[in-house]
Amino acid sequence: MNLQVVRGTVTGIAYQAGQEVMRYFNQPHELETKGSAFDFATEADVASERLISDALLAAFPDHHLVGEEGGGRGAPAESAEYFWFVDPIDGTSNFASGIPFFSISIALTDRAGDLLVGVVYNPVAQKVFSAERGQGATLNGQPLQVSGNTALDQAMLCSGFPYDRSNPRYNINRWMAFLPLARGLRRFGSAALELCWVAAGRLDGYWEGPLNYWDYYAGMLIVQEAGGKVSDYAGGKPQAEILASNGHLHDQMLQIIAAAGD
Ligand code: IPD
Ligand code: CA
Ligand code: CA
Repeated sequence: MNLQVVRGTVTGIAYQAGQEVMRYFNQPHELETKGSAFDFATEADVASERLISDALLAAFPDHHLVGEEGGGRGAPAESAEYFWFVDPIDGTSNFASGIPFFSISIALTDRAGDLLVGVVYNPVAQKVFSAERGQGATLNGQPLQVSGNTALDQAMLCSGFPYDRSNPRYNINRWMAFLPLARGLRRFGSAALELCWVAAGRLDGYWEGPLNYWDYYAGMLIVQEAGGKVSDYAGGKPQAEILASNGHLHDQMLQIIAAAGD
């Protein structure tokens, strides 16, 4: 499979989905709740996922596709060689409130789970972040590079808070641990886009968990291909908890996360 061609195809599909999503932005929404009152989908999430999954499976009928809203589609997971992970709107809560910070996130892996292609599209700003394994990351075609910042007291960091509020401390320990140490802390509300901002050097580090594959796979590859580092909170392979950084601050951030506790 020619990944450069795949990257171009996916970028086109993400762009079309962005146009679809923007038709619904700043309009009244029908909210359908999912796991909790805080977790919901709008009609735009459903329409975007339908457009993306129909287009991807038309182009790659023997691949398996995992969508946040629609579950599994395409070739059976047991036999497929390639897997798509689709978040039709990452930042739905922002989207539903008319806050212009959300994205469309699409990632391709092989059977082993190795990331091959990632595309994250911000339809408000018309910015497309993308990466292909071993070929670097770009923003609207221009190469991306993480920041060179080595000092935590000069770092702009970012995090997020899960919809699941069952843990009463809810990431607050980690947030409190970084607050006096970093130049700034931000929470924007789209994990995929926040990862891309690490790749672009706007943020020096980002942590959040638990996240799903569709939230972070595309952004994770984009960070790695921009020269950054991505791990779980213990420095291992990410599963649900993600620490992404410019690399220089990674070990220090791991130590602070470990000391903060859950
Ligand atoms: C959410 C966003 C948010 C993060 C949540 C995610 P969604 O995805 O990425 O930034 O804090 O944990 O679930 O629900 O808008 O696709
Ligand atoms: Ca998401
Ligand atoms: Ca979503």
